[in-house]
Amino acid sequence: MILDVYEAVKSRRAVRGFTDRHVPREALERVLSAAAWSPSGSNLQPWHAYVLTGAPLAELKKRALERVAAGDPGDEREYETYPPALKSPYRERRFAFGKERYGELGISREDWAARQRAAAANWDCFGAPAALFCYIDRDLGRPQWADVGMYLQTVMLLLRAEGLHSCPQMAWSVYRRTVAEVLSPPDGLILFCGMSIGFEDVTVGYARTGRAPLEETVTFVEGAALRSHAA
Ligand SMILES: Cc1cc2nc3c(=O)[nH]c(=O)nc-3n(C[C@H](O)[C@H](O)[C@H](O)COP(=O)(O)O)c2cc1C
Repeated sequence: MILDVYEAVKSRRAVRGFTDRHVPREALERVLSAAAWSPSGSNLQPWHAYVLTGAPLAELKKRALERVAAGDPGDEREYETYPPALKSPYRERRFAFGKERYGELGISREDWAARQRAAAANWDCFGAPAALFCYIDRDLGRPQWADVGMYLQTVMLLLRAEGLHSCPQMAWSVYRRTVAEVLSPPDGLILFCGMSIGFEDVTVGYARTGRAPLEETVTFVEGAALRSHAA
């Protein structure tokens, strides 16, 4: 399917309900071959992607969900998903997202148990029959993490061209040791995130997440040319 770039960007969203329809291996190969053309500083290509389907993915979900059911708080974190004291305006945006997300599920802010149950769907990949896990070398720095982000967005946009949807998930870093048991990545890699991949279950409702107005996040600097002090 040829998809206008704007359409791909606008139709991508974090989908949290998938059908069990098989995701063709050829589609994933097309997407990942094209995504390899993502930019990276000095062409380091710092992403290490693992794609899971079938029995290995079922086994991973099973093991992770067993940990969830046992109330296991997860493995020690290898990176901080958010700063402990999130400042404005990020704090407000995070709060608004939580309100939107749990509001659409009919879960109140105080209902911690229901929120936990909803969060648990992460480790079932929201029902998706395919998933990607993206690692980065422990020795690489912030610019390379940004490269990995560009790569993942490229993957997600290309998935749209295949009629597929996705949900990127830092939640998988919580049970990273279980992911490693199944994938056996080489030492020295950090799991950045997982990504559920599949065909959307359109019977699952959703509220489209909003975005800050352009002027909050973009500054245009334009007009007459700057005069140098010497002039
Ligand atoms: C790096 C990254 C990690 C994310 N982790 C999770 C996650 O663990 N679980 C989840 O449900 N959504 C996760 N999301 C999805 C975000 O909540 C979502 O992208 C954001 O709220 C904007 O909504 P939209 O993608 O639907 O436009 C993640 C997104 C990114 C980019």
